[in-house]
Amino acid sequence: MRERSRAWRARGERIGLVPTMGNLHGGHLELVDRLAGEVDRLVVSIFVNPLQFGPDEDYDSYPRTLEADLAALEERGVAAAFAPTAREMYPGAEPPRTGIDVPALTGTLCGASRPGHFAGVAVVVVKLLNIIEPDVAIFGRKDYQQLQVVRRVVHDLDLPVAIRDGPVVREADGLALSSRNSYLAPEQRRRAPALYAALCELAAALRDGRRDLAALEAQGRERLLAAGFDAVDYVAVRRCEDLAEPRGDEACLVCLGAAYLGSARLIDNVEVALHV
Ligand code: PAF
Repeated sequence: MRERSRAWRARGERIGLVPTMGNLHGGHLELVDRLAGEVDRLVVSIFVNPLQFGPDEDYDSYPRTLEADLAALEERGVAAAFAPTAREMYPGAEPPRTGIDVPALTGTLCGASRPGHFAGVAVVVVKLLNIIEPDVAIFGRKDYQQLQVVRRVVHDLDLPVAIRDGPVVREADGLALSSRNSYLAPEQRRRAPALYAALCELAAALRDGRRDLAALEAQGRERLLAAGFDAVDYVAVRRCEDLAEPRGDEACLVCLGAAYLGSARLIDNVEVALHV
């Protein structure tokens, strides 16, 4: 892969990367389309990264649809799909011993309930960047915290790549596209848009000037349970720039939520721009 991308670079071509875990949906394809216009060669990586799954999580059952993914990418004229095996990415019997920690960002929200998840994401993203050496890489805003972690790692470690972000792509009823939506039974699927609805309600309250965040977050949690979610991991309002607790002077707040319908853990977020 590196030989190929170095050959492109030697010809003066600009290289873009869309990192994915496959099972491509409209959200991924939006990232592909956005970056395609900006580069000469677009690479999409497809790798279900064992390092970012906890022992009781869905690594084994995560949907793998390589044939269909490759067909969709071929249709879009992608220059290469990089789809290594776990053994190729992590040779040897043990997982890599080098870790990447972003303490200010990874102990909270999804990081609090998924210990090691963002460290696993950071390691695989840095490996993919080092293998493919893209000029630019794009990540979806649905994984808001992941995007922040990636930006931080790239900044702090001086990685020579520009990071772009792409929008949350939604179904008509508001549910954010996610590979994990395929875990939902029809009844759960019917309830799932309540996550986005609860975050929109929270965002509207912030736009109206309310700042009783603990009460608003509790209300969001209640709304999800009332809508039939089985458990709520968090509903939280944070600063957009660093996911810290708001101080009252920020220009951008983000409402984030993570909640379970059965075994499916759904996440979503809504940004609120404020006039300060
Ligand atoms: O967002 C994802 O699909 C993954 O976390 C990523 C960025 C491809 C790393 O495995």
